[in-house]
Amino acid sequence: MSVADAYREALATGRARPDDDQARLVEKLNVLAKTLEARQQTRRSGWFSRFRRNSDGEMPRGLYIHGPVGRGKTMLMDLFFGAVHCAPKRRIHFHAFMQDVHARLAAARQSNGDPLAPVADAIAGDAQLLCLDEFQVTDIADAMILGRLFEALFARGLVLVATSNLAPSELYRDGLNRQLFLPFIALLERQLDIAALAGVTDYRLGRIKAHESFVAPLGPEADRRLREMWDLLTDSAEGETMELDLLGRKLHVPRAAHGCARFTFPELCEKPLGAPDYLAIARTFRTIFVSAIPALGPAKRNEAKRFIILIDTLYDAGCRLVASSAQPPEAIYPAGDHRLEFARTVSRLREMQSASWWGKKIAET
Ligand SMILES: Nc1ncnc2c1ncn2[C@@H]1O[C@H](COP(=O)(O)OP(=O)(O)OP(=O)(O)O)[C@@H](O)[C@H]1O
Ligand SMILES: [Mg+2]
Repeated sequence: MSVADAYREALATGRARPDDDQARLVEKLNVLAKTLEARQQTRRSGWFSRFRRNSDGEMPRGLYIHGPVGRGKTMLMDLFFGAVHCAPKRRIHFHAFMQDVHARLAAARQSNGDPLAPVADAIAGDAQLLCLDEFQVTDIADAMILGRLFEALFARGLVLVATSNLAPSELYRDGLNRQLFLPFIALLERQLDIAALAGVTDYRLGRIKAHESFVAPLGPEADRRLREMWDLLTDSAEGETMELDLLGRKLHVPRAAHGCARFTFPELCEKPLGAPDYLAIARTFRTIFVSAIPALGPAKRNEAKRFIILIDTLYDAGCRLVASSAQPPEAIYPAGDHRLEFARTVSRLREMQSASWWGKKIAET
């Protein structure tokens, strides 16, 4: 089934409502899928070296899809990823990808020489098509490696498809040493078609129904509701403490039972935890309880950043979230350095409260 067929099927079965902006993007994805499939054919028939590049001497152009939250970027990329016949292919969240890159670089540094070339060989060997969800650069370590890394990956024939809330020119906007990042933006603009998906409909919002999984404000009533949810999901288990193994260290889980884990906001976001920790939690548990989310003033930029990464990670892994908070999602972090990114967090917190989110997850577990 082609990408266009898969989209038509989603429309026909009512999984997706007709949307002109999406239809145009599907057309682009459909063309890219055909180009990739043709390249694969030529490689199979041994003409790889000759046909590796298109007639104009370029690699197949990847696609960078950007736009506001809930427009269907991830849905369409996943539809494309599922339909395209291209091997090997890999679909991964940007945070998880960068974590993998840094781990591979650290391992390659053990031997002499430039670690980048062997790492690029390995990544391009694992994927000729790389789909990265939620491209976002806020970390200087990521910013400084991306240019050389993708230069090397593109040289090895890898085609990138990415989704992001930001256009390439907006990435790492107020970042440290941004001038060193600019060549990477130029590289993206040269190698990829840049497509905005910025229709009027936030589909995530449309699905929301009141659900009791996000409780505000804090207080005895909120505590009681969280306790009730815990009892419901764990058959009233007391739970036990656990240590999750992370590269070279342990992550403490204060209470765990029946696929649920319970944390307080300070335990998760006021300590120096990061994407690897949250990923380990998301992979280990189906439902995460986060209690006592405070209002975050502009000075709490680190806490806000960690909370953004936490929610992105739980969302991407399809985890269920039960939370108690001093404020409703949109009032948690109204001002500060990360407030633009936080718009996505708000949107996700809302979707993660919806009956359909819970219904879907419950059906799977
Ligand atoms: N045309 C559509 N009709 C109905 N539902 C849709 C449509 N497009 C997307 N959706 C649904 O809306 C929700 C949000 O879509 P998706 O996650 O792809 O948005 P996104 O653009 O990636 O958002 P974000 O920037 O937050 O990652 C998903 O549950 C998706 O299945
Ligand atoms: Mg998305």
